[in-house]
Amino acid sequence: MEALTPLIDGGIFAYLNYLVPAKRKEILDILVNGLKRMEYRGYDSAGVGFEGTNTKNGSHELKTIKQKGKVARLQEEIDQTTDLDFEKEYETHIGIAHTRWATHGEPSPTNSHPQRSDTTNEFLVVHNGIITNYKDLKSFLMSKGMEFESETDTEVIVKLVKHISDKHKNSTMSFRELVELTVQQLEGAFSLVFMSSKFPGECVCTRRGSPLVIGVKSKAKLSTDHIPILYSKDHRGFMNPSLHHTDSTTEFHPIGNKEVEYFFASDASAIIEHTNQVIFLEDDDVAAVQNGCLTIHRIKRTLDESTTREVTTIKMEIQQIMKGSYSSFMQKEIFEQPESVVNTMRGRVNFETNQVVLGGIKDFMTEIRRCRRLLFIACGTSYHSAVATRQLMEELTELPVVVELASDFLDRQTPVFRDDVCFFISQSGETADTLMALRYCKQRGALIVGITNTVGSSICRESHCGVHINAGPEIGVASTKAYTSQFISLVMFALVMCEDRISMQNRRKEIIQGLKNLPEQIKNVLKTDEHVHTLAQELYQQKSLLVMGRGYNYATCLEGALKIKELTYMHSEGILAGELKHGPLALVDRAMPVMMVVTRDKVYPKCMNALQQVKARHGNPIVLGNVDDTDTQQQANKYIGVPSTIDCLQGILTIIPMQLLSMHIAQLRGCDVDCPRNLAKSVTVE
Ligand code: G6P
Repeated sequence: MEALTPLIDGGIFAYLNYLVPAKRKEILDILVNGLKRMEYRGYDSAGVGFEGTNTKNGSHELKTIKQKGKVARLQEEIDQTTDLDFEKEYETHIGIAHTRWATHGEPSPTNSHPQRSDTTNEFLVVHNGIITNYKDLKSFLMSKGMEFESETDTEVIVKLVKHISDKHKNSTMSFRELVELTVQQLEGAFSLVFMSSKFPGECVCTRRGSPLVIGVKSKAKLSTDHIPILYSKDHRGFMNPSLHHTDSTTEFHPIGNKEVEYFFASDASAIIEHTNQVIFLEDDDVAAVQNGCLTIHRIKRTLDESTTREVTTIKMEIQQIMKGSYSSFMQKEIFEQPESVVNTMRGRVNFETNQVVLGGIKDFMTEIRRCRRLLFIACGTSYHSAVATRQLMEELTELPVVVELASDFLDRQTPVFRDDVCFFISQSGETADTLMALRYCKQRGALIVGITNTVGSSICRESHCGVHINAGPEIGVASTKAYTSQFISLVMFALVMCEDRISMQNRRKEIIQGLKNLPEQIKNVLKTDEHVHTLAQELYQQKSLLVMGRGYNYATCLEGALKIKELTYMHSEGILAGELKHGPLALVDRAMPVMMVVTRDKVYPKCMNALQQVKARHGNPIVLGNVDDTDTQQQANKYIGVPSTIDCLQGILTIIPMQLLSMHIAQLRGCDVDCPRNLAKSVTVE
């Protein structure tokens, strides 16, 4: 397992048109638009690299425009560039673009990507990830006389390509081979796209531990839906014995006619408006486009690895990733929940026969039922969905259920056995800690089940089986609809586990009926929006908010408090009401804002007891309870009522007012709800 460093994000987008004429203006628009589609990933500067001509000597050269701040600022910078002919048409062209999240060196144009090999821009690269051995490489390159201009780790990559290229000046080494030699020296996590003035209209990209997807657009139908892997010569001088192909000279045309466009991105949502035909690269794949042909290479072949890459048709709709009439993606996603929960259950729950079928794990159910314990491992909101369903999982499976934060699980080197079933819950399917925990458990022989919202993500690909939560793209950094869909997916799994238990049939039926009523009930919860907004107006200038509850609603407290802190930057804590006397009660006084979740389930009397304790310390809690519970309402000064459902599903309805509250408080405080400061949607390093 790789030791990786701080939180990063940002995104890559590149566009190659081969024999498809496009004006420079159009090319730059495509590049900038691609970056806009990935804005949710969190970034602090942006840049583009493209082809052009040297005005002095007419030679081919690469140009860059880079800027600190939002993509809109980069766009302004491009518009203000006076020495560019925006009308110039290119029949074949490669352009690369990037949003950067600073890790090495502050946000600045020099530290932004593309990074260049030298002042003539012979090679350019955009990079997502972190190079852990960059210091050693930098000293080596400096000893060879290379000068560095940025503080980034990325600059070593592009200087190294140049160094290798200069060393092999007299050979006929291809662009792809140069990149292969380069990446063999790199340690850490990366996805990379390279362009070079030596190789006009060509592009090479690769990944290790950071996602990269290629979109293909062609008028003609693709001649294949599987691209064979070509095994390259091991550049240290010997050949791998299990090679299929030797160094590839075979031209491979995935496209029927030769006019073709390629899109390269960290995320399929940036590509989907151009094409729905995509190829997800695997770690250590090196993809190259030369003369319009895309080939995918690997240096070595390992046992049982796939020898092709599938051309996948993705179904994401462009309008799904647009904000529509909503003020933010987060608001849109909160209000989509009546539909997203239906999509999660669609084709899986039969409300007539009370049957639940999860196609993605069906064939593994015998093995899962035989297991010794169930482990649920995740980060952030995804972890809370496991906390929310743990009690039901224990009840319906009668198995020990362990719920773990991925980072802590890895820190402890937790024992895992062959008869364990390990679930990895992740909206993005790319979270580094979750993915590393997955690999750790897989190595120890456990069965791996992925629960994700992103088809083709690393977690999907590396799991033995799994469930797609089908919530649709979630753009807001703070997870909302993915949480309720993860919750439902885990409930559905628990229902499948107990389908043959006669003693549990009544309980199963009640839960399935509860699921059936959820979409309507969620619509009713959303009607509290205005009332919640009024409460937000009373709270938004506070420094802190405590959220208390227990039992099935404890997860709502944790998740509600997480939403408040990540969006509003207020201090907030989810507190288990059973722990009140062990510390948190000391925080309560007349001034401390408190919310309490009190619904009519088994722990109701205990919750009421906690409410009295808080009131006895002059606390004045806002109570989040059942709309028809007038008794409790009378005990509370302020009350948010949600419809009643079966105990184990109540958390789906109580979290929604908390999502709305955090959004309103954040907006009243002037915070950007879709991109909170210092946070990223998909945390692809440890
Ligand atoms: C980040 C996001 C959270 C998310 C967490 C886990 O912190 O901001 O919204 O819950 O990562 O992400 P995952 O994609 O694994 O669910």
